[in-house]
Amino acid sequence: GRIAELVVVANRLPVDRVVDADGEPGWRRSPGGLVTALEPVMRRADGAWVGWPGQPDIEVDPFEFEGTHLVPVMLTSEDVELYYEGMSNDTFWPLYHDVIAEPRYRRVWWDAYVKVNRRFAEAAAAVAADGATVWVQDYQLQLVPQMLRQARPDLTIGYFHHIPFPAYGLYSQLPWRRQVLEGLLGADVIGFQRVADAGNFARAVRRQLRYDTKASGITVPNADGTSRRALAKAFPISIDASSYIELARQDDVRARAKEIRESLGNPKKILLGVDRLDYTKGIRHRMKAFGELLEDGKIAVEDVTLVQVASPSRERVAAYMQLRDEIELTVGRINGDHDTMGHTAIRYLHQAYPREEMVALFLAADVMLVTALRDGMNLVAKEYVASRIDNRGVLVLSEFAGAADELPSAVRINPHDIDGMKDAIMRAIEMPSAEQGRRMRALRRKVVENDVARWSQSFLDALDAARERNRFPA
Ligand code: G6P
Repeated sequence: GRIAELVVVANRLPVDRVVDADGEPGWRRSPGGLVTALEPVMRRADGAWVGWPGQPDIEVDPFEFEGTHLVPVMLTSEDVELYYEGMSNDTFWPLYHDVIAEPRYRRVWWDAYVKVNRRFAEAAAAVAADGATVWVQDYQLQLVPQMLRQARPDLTIGYFHHIPFPAYGLYSQLPWRRQVLEGLLGADVIGFQRVADAGNFARAVRRQLRYDTKASGITVPNADGTSRRALAKAFPISIDASSYIELARQDDVRARAKEIRESLGNPKKILLGVDRLDYTKGIRHRMKAFGELLEDGKIAVEDVTLVQVASPSRERVAAYMQLRDEIELTVGRINGDHDTMGHTAIRYLHQAYPREEMVALFLAADVMLVTALRDGMNLVAKEYVASRIDNRGVLVLSEFAGAADELPSAVRINPHDIDGMKDAIMRAIEMPSAEQGRRMRALRRKVVENDVARWSQSFLDALDAARERNRFPA
């Protein structure tokens, strides 16, 4: 029934399905940042979360989990193939990340995308109380705001876009460019990571739909000749900084950091990359720069090791399979050329780790390399900074990651400029401790101040303001 005052709609539920030793299926909270961020908000608001359980063909009734009402949306294996792997991750993902990989446009994928978006919208409409707030998350569900508004004009609707929104010259490749803009404009507030993303969106709306766009809002015509206002604005997402700080203080985590350094042969410097294995992350560019530094004799394997954690992601999408092959070829070549019996150039881990282990790695790493070619935000950059309670370590950060807007005290790089990246890596390796401290303190201030609780609160505040505007239109 219509019970929830706040409904989150996301492709994934905030839980993972697990099967225990006796073969009994159960649920475990997923480790993601969004989940942690929204948990307290959902508790307070008697919230509901509509999402996919993450595996095909799983039909489950709604259930309560740690204070949240969970509403599973079933996807068949065909839905997963066409809507998730196809339209979401082989069309929108590459298109919105500046066509780093070539997007594929297929009508059957679009049809499935429309159908699945409708299923999410219907589930949300069924659970939202009268006049409730619904908050839709990310590019998998861009049509949900408009579908919801049509079904439930009483709702206040927000949408947050976690990934970049591209320039119109690229966006206009999309055969369904009009429908997607109209879908998003069903929301009262459309949130983006960067000011530039909100700007690209407003420009697309102007060019494609000819609507009037101002900083104060986009004028969206209603069917009856009246109009309403939608706000497109940047709300940079963040992390739960205090949970990283707490972990970094734990004795076992600190001991583990030391153990990691030892197991790598106590090199003078450890460089670290942590990414989902994704072509947007610039993993190959980073390895190329690192390999050339070894080649040039600027660094030696006895002194410097690169640890690359690349967690498995979207493994059935062709571009991801191909990237994995390329990365593993590159690692093999670099290591083959430079390793000695006791030392390895790149320690490559195609695995995902619990948060404790990640914080230990962050504490062990002298230099964190975030070299994304395009990234909505990049929370790993913020996680590294939050974990460095010792005010040491250097963050090398791509200008093409959203995090660069808030973190000017990082060593900035353009990942396309391999020579420039090599210089930046050397600078990071050689950076005196006092300068590390100055920069890290400035970075930490930003991350600790703007944590994820503030992000969700400011978005929900903007939605409340929108509700007031709608109730008393000017
Ligand atoms: C990015 C997207 C999220 C997505 C996550 C993991 O951060 O913005 O929407 O959930 O990647 O990808 P996956 O396809 O496994 O959900």
